[in-house]
Amino acid sequence: MGFEDIYNHKAIIKESANARVNLIGEHTDYTGGYVMPTLLGFKNTIELSKNEEKKFVVFSEHFNEKKIFNDFIKSESNDWSDYIKGCLFVFFDEYKKIKLEHFNIYISSSIPLERGISSSSALCVSTLKALNSYFNTQINEKHIAVLAKKVEHDYIGVSGGIMDQMVSSIGIHGKAFFLDCLNLKYELINFPSNWKFCLVDSEVQRNLRSSSYNERFNELKIAEKELDVEYLGGVKLNKFNPDKISNPTVVKRARHVVTENDRVLKAKECLLKDDIVKFGKLMIESHNSYSSDFEASTNDVDEIVKNSTECGALGARLTGGGFGGFTVSLIEENNFSKWYDKITKYYPEDKIFEV
Ligand code: GLA
Repeated sequence: MGFEDIYNHKAIIKESANARVNLIGEHTDYTGGYVMPTLLGFKNTIELSKNEEKKFVVFSEHFNEKKIFNDFIKSESNDWSDYIKGCLFVFFDEYKKIKLEHFNIYISSSIPLERGISSSSALCVSTLKALNSYFNTQINEKHIAVLAKKVEHDYIGVSGGIMDQMVSSIGIHGKAFFLDCLNLKYELINFPSNWKFCLVDSEVQRNLRSSSYNERFNELKIAEKELDVEYLGGVKLNKFNPDKISNPTVVKRARHVVTENDRVLKAKECLLKDDIVKFGKLMIESHNSYSSDFEASTNDVDEIVKNSTECGALGARLTGGGFGGFTVSLIEENNFSKWYDKITKYYPEDKIFEV
């Protein structure tokens, strides 16, 4: 199936955006801290042509479903097409001088959904890129990310940060994307040749809307208020004073973020110095903190992390917003086949993906 089968003519624009895996730095983005994701090969593609009947027609290959609309009102049922509506709304709102046009849109994607690898950001970034190409608006990649975040934050109503949109818009497959989320300055860093990252799918589906993501977001905002700082990301480990926070649960959430920021900075140094052993240790510490202080892991996920390291991975952790989804493991290239033979005794080959 393809665009032509649905619309009987060829698309005039085709744009894609990739999913990401976060290597380290979880829930540090909206608290003004650091993250270090990398792009995956999985991608979302948007094709479009002009619709002459003043309708927006959107077909999703994944859902095998067509939606038709001519306003930008969000559905009450959290429909997949809301993401496209949201992109159209944000785009035309940002560029008010552009005359409204209608489109036939076709979405295809190789990204497993709701597994913590930012399928929604790739959808928004590719849609905005397609609108940018169609209208020749010359929006730079950073601004595409900012608009994509606006879609998720203001239109869909998910309290996320900007990591996913930034890496999906700017990242390069095969390089780490170190990002300071406060000023959006980033560095693209090569991986040493003997490092190999691999995903193992926990098959626990997650959905940011229904998960405890927003709850964690709010707890961290309470911590910032009580610590009297604008962003937790600016609080160094040796300056963190948990006594100022009244609720013990909030102390744990904040401690995760403060220690995690420290780990991201150390992990970046390890990457630059080719210290794979220490990077792996930081991933394990990150997972433990995510699991015990942030309470964002699940038993199945903890089990994968444990099995993966027992099979020889130097580090492993849950990646993304939490509460299920993918885990990421770091394995030395020359140990990879041994790790793979062992891990496939626990999990089927089609749940394991090389980054
Ligand atoms: C989701 C959000 C990101 C980030 C991660 C957790 O992927 O979209 O902004 O907060 O969770 O690190």
